[in-house]
Amino acid sequence: MQLQTKTVHAGVNKDTAYNSIITPIYQTSTFRFEDIGKTKGYDYTRTANPTRTALEENIAQLENGSCARVIASGMAAIAATLHFFKTGDHIISTNDCYGGTERLFRLYSEIFGFQISYVDMKNLDEIKKNIKPNTKAVWIETPSNPLLNIYDIQAISEIAHDNKAISVVDNTFLSPVNQRPLELGADIVVHSTTKYLNGHSDVVGGAIVVKKQELADRLHYLVNALGQGEAPFDAWLVLRGIKTLVPRMKAHEENAIAVALFLEKQKDVLKVNYPGLENHPQHELAKKQQFGFGGMLSFEVNGDINKVNSILRSTKIFSLAESLGGIESLICHPATMTHASMDKALKEKVGINDRLIRLSVGIEDKNDLLEDLNNAFNI
Ligand SMILES: Cc1ncc(COP(=O)(O)O)c(C=O)c1O
Repeated sequence: MQLQTKTVHAGVNKDTAYNSIITPIYQTSTFRFEDIGKTKGYDYTRTANPTRTALEENIAQLENGSCARVIASGMAAIAATLHFFKTGDHIISTNDCYGGTERLFRLYSEIFGFQISYVDMKNLDEIKKNIKPNTKAVWIETPSNPLLNIYDIQAISEIAHDNKAISVVDNTFLSPVNQRPLELGADIVVHSTTKYLNGHSDVVGGAIVVKKQELADRLHYLVNALGQGEAPFDAWLVLRGIKTLVPRMKAHEENAIAVALFLEKQKDVLKVNYPGLENHPQHELAKKQQFGFGGMLSFEVNGDINKVNSILRSTKIFSLAESLGGIESLICHPATMTHASMDKALKEKVGINDRLIRLSVGIEDKNDLLEDLNNAFNI
């Protein structure tokens, strides 16, 4: 099946009771046993639920994995993945990752004794230099949030494997339509399904996808033990959202390219970060490992904080809000919003400064979006 067909059908046709076309919402905490030790495959919703299973099979197929687990949020996906490791293990991470990821790494360092090194992954030698005998994983966020840096999943996964570590990729920014890390050699993919996979800004969720059987067994154990599985209704909403993922991603990208080209021409813009622009430093790598450039971009304002605030306050269609990947356009100030919790020194080092604005470009009419931004720049 082609990806677009998988988005609509994978995992879905399950209702043998009434042959419903759409997966029912099994809004139940528990399931009746047919006899002692005999169930119809489900006994308790924390462990598994048929609505959740449908979504898990769908996402596993989209990512070309063997197994997926869907979970309460993107952060829950990251937290559960960290439970693959133990006290004293060392993880090398992208240095400009999502602020919540860095906060959780810091928390787990404090309470579980994890060691985390933040590295500029554009430089593969830097990764090699940071490998230690206890390095167990390389954590890759590409494109990174909010700077849209691109990191080479295949090359970095090879470095991890050469050193008996695994690679984890946060694929939230692109979705499996635009990037499939398992095909490039990664071991674990995590998602905030709150974003493009659901796509309608009406649910919070996460997913973890693996290919190797030993990781799948452990994943199933961890999600049940931690009690983080996604609620059936939320899983149903994400399954519904995914059916339009392919046309949505195309529409996001078309609009994002138009917005990026518009921003490049503004005198009030110092720099536009969008991997689809030919002058993006990793444009060629993005073309090689991605199937599209996505709908996220950021830019640096050529002016002081008053100019930044004026733009943030003046858009009418772009709402000032956290999150991304929904059908509606959002504008955000990473330094004080999505990355507010990030370690200050790290934030400054990687360039998440007060002049940076991030846009999640929605699927509205392109001309309305450009007019909205034009008005905000010229107020
Ligand atoms: C790249 C990335 N990963 C993970 C998360 C966390 O997802 P959630 O908000 O669903 O917990 C986010 C949230 O913005 C994100 O941008």
